[in-house]
Parts: sequence; C-alpha cells; structure tokens
Amino acid sequence: MAKKALNIGLVGYGFMGRTHAHAYHNAAQFFDLPLTPVLKAVCGRDGAKAKAFADNWGATIVETDWKKLIANKEIDAIDIVTPNDSHAEIAIAAAKAGKMVLCEKPLSLDGKQGLEMVKVIEKCKVPNTVWYNYRRVPAVTLAKQIIDSGKLGKIFHYRANFLQDWTISADLPQGGAGLWRLDAKAAGSGVTGDLLAHCIDTAIWLNGPLTDVTAMTETFIKKRTHTATGKVQEVKIDDACTFMGHFENGSLALFESTRYARGHKALYTLEINGENGSIRWDLHDLHRLQYFDYRDEGIVRGWRSVHVTDGDQPYMKNWWVPGLQIGYAETFTHQVADFIRAVGEGKPCHPTFRDALETQYVCDAVLASAKSGKWVKCKHA
Ligand SMILES: NC(=O)c1ccc[n+]([C@@H]2O[C@H](COP(=O)([O-])OP(=O)(O)OC[C@H]3O[C@@H](n4cnc5c(N)ncnc54)[C@H](O)[C@@H]3O)[C@@H](O)[C@H]2O)c1
Repeated sequence: MAKKALNIGLVGYGFMGRTHAHAYHNAAQFFDLPLTPVLKAVCGRDGAKAKAFADNWGATIVETDWKKLIANKEIDAIDIVTPNDSHAEIAIAAAKAGKMVLCEKPLSLDGKQGLEMVKVIEKCKVPNTVWYNYRRVPAVTLAKQIIDSGKLGKIFHYRANFLQDWTISADLPQGGAGLWRLDAKAAGSGVTGDLLAHCIDTAIWLNGPLTDVTAMTETFIKKRTHTATGKVQEVKIDDACTFMGHFENGSLALFESTRYARGHKALYTLEINGENGSIRWDLHDLHRLQYFDYRDEGIVRGWRSVHVTDGDQPYMKNWWVPGLQIGYAETFTHQVADFIRAVGEGKPCHPTFRDALETQYVCDAVLASAKSGKWVKCKHA
C-alpha cells in the first residue's frame, strides 16, 4: 500500500533549492520511511522561473508569495531556502500556521532573532530542523560514533577551516541574486555566518559546547557597487575570520575561514586530537576519514585512510555495494530521511532550531570579540 505523502512547499529555488528538491525525490527510494516526501509546491518571486523549476522537479503548485504557500492546506511542511534575512519571518509564519519547518542555515541573522524563532517554533510544537548537512556526510557521522565510543580518550584540540576564493575581485558587486552573501543586510555576516557556522555546528556536535572565544575579522575590499542601488557602498561583511576558543570539555579550538584563499573552492577540513588518537576529515575527499590510533601495534602504527563505503558504516547500507561512494547531494537525502523518520517517531530531528541557536550564539560571540578585541563568553541556547 502506498505510504501517506508528506507534502513539501519549497520557498526559493536557487542552489539549495536544487539540492533539497533532489533529496525529496530520492529519499523514499533509498530509505524505508513512514511517509513519502513529495515536493508539492515551489515559491519564488519570479513566477516564470519558479514554474520552470517546479516543472523540472514535478511540483504542481507554483506561488510567488510565500504567505499563500503557508496558507495552502495541502502543504504539510515549509522548506526555507532563501537568503538569511527572510528565514525568521517565513519560519515564524509557517510555525504559527501549524506547518513543520525545515530551514536552511544559518538559522537567523543573529542570536536575538534566532531566539525569537526558537520560542515560536517550540510554542507551536511543530517538527523542525536546520540544514547543517555536513553532520550527515557518512565519514563525519562515523567520526561522531568514534568520538562517542571514547576511542580518542580525552580531547585536547579541535581545529577547522573553511576556505574559498570567489570574492577576490574588487569588481564583484554586492547584493542581489547570487551576491546577497556580500550584503550584510541580507546575509547577517560574511564568512562567520556562512561558512564558520557549518564548522561550529559540526564542532559542537562532535566535541560539545564552546565556552568563550577571541577572534579577528578582516574585510579586504572595503567598498563595492551595490546591485540594487548601483552605488558604491561600504562592505559590512567579514571576508575572513579566525578565532580561538575553549570547549567546555577543556579542549582548545582553532577556526579559520576566508573567501580569499586563492586555489581553494570549498575546503572544509576538521581535525580532532585526543590522548589516544586523532581524526581528520576533508570535504574535498568527503568519503574518507583519516584515523590514527596510538594504541596500534608499533610496526603498523600510522594514519589509516578509512574509505567510508561499507554497509556497517553510517547510511551506507542504503546505497551501493561496498567500495562505491556517494557524495555531497546525499547529505541532504540523509537529512530528509532522518527528518521523516523523526516525524514518524514523534522525536526531534537534530540539529533542531534550538541546536542551531547554539551555533548562532557562538557566531555572535566571535563577531563581538573581533569588534572589541577582547575574549567573549558564548551564550547557550
Ligand atoms: N547547507 C548548506 O551547505 C548551504 C549551502 C548554500 C547555501 N545555504 C543556505 O541556503 C540559503 C539559500 O542559499 P542559496 O545558495 O540557495 O541562495 P541562492 O541565491 O542560490 O537562492 C536563493 C533563492 O531565494 C529566492 N528568494 C529570495 N528572496 C525570496 C523571497 N522573499 N521569497 C521567495 N523567494 C525568495 C531567490 O529568488 C532564489 O531562488 C541561505 O540561507 C544559505 O545560507 C546552505
């Protein structure tokens, strides 16, 4: 018998719109789910483009106003894949209408706004999740299992980088389609909220909460033409950010992100060092987990490169035969599958809005420290 549908209304159809649409299409084909996700509706401000997107992915409803999507009784869940400045308004309205809410990261422009969102979503008791999808790279999920099993022992260091190089040209305008990330009004912040937020979410998940941070940021190109006004305006986002900090478990944090690392496109790396061993992961080689165990016999002791494709490794029994890998797109499929399972079981799907607020508070502390030049304590969600 066909399973009941869970009808999704997608707001936005850009980069993330495509990854999410792809995930809704294949989640129930690869995972045994209590409900079948159906991309039922697409909303975008340009009706013709939204229709073309909807036709491509088989969605039957097209809207140009997200409020109509939320009012539609056929829609069970609203998925927000718009620039950061619209997340709060759409999420709050959707929750108040009783819809489940899936929201892209970062949750909000800042912690204050994020807290408002958490309060409403929890009051309305609607299932919710935030798309920090790197948790669901099988190699990263495996890192979590290894750390939780205690194999690394006491943790001393956690370091992460997220390096890109796409904003080096001074001719690049700020604002508008594709370039809203350079406009602080739309993005909230630069690399801190866009890239470091991913690193912070993974770090908190793997290694627990951060307590305090000291940071520096830099805006290398101070003025850019704004797409909307045509005027040369001050750039208010951080182009680069480096911060140090402490985790609650006593380990030290070292994080760096920039869009000015020539040659790097999306180099997210993390490394964690414990008393017995270490783990290293690299987004450019995302199906591999590097693992070192000091307790190995001396003659074979060294870094192992674990090809995370076996059926007993996270998520992999649902895909191909051992040895054949999956990629970036499937992290979103995993999140859809986990979300729908959690809905079926009446459990939260992490990261929830509240989990994402914890990350937002660290971003706030990082930006505040960069401004004041002082150590700043992190609030907790
Ligand atoms: N999880 C990840 O790894 C990841 C990666 C990239 C982006 N993101 C996040 O996803 C979100 C979207 O980013 P993107 O790269 O897809 O951006 P994008 O610019 O490619 O697409 C944004 C979409 O939102 C639409 N839009 C803007 N305002 C709207 C409104 N008021 N109503 C309806 N539609 C509107 C645009 O027309 C466009 O379709 C951002 O919050 C971003 O931080 C997450």
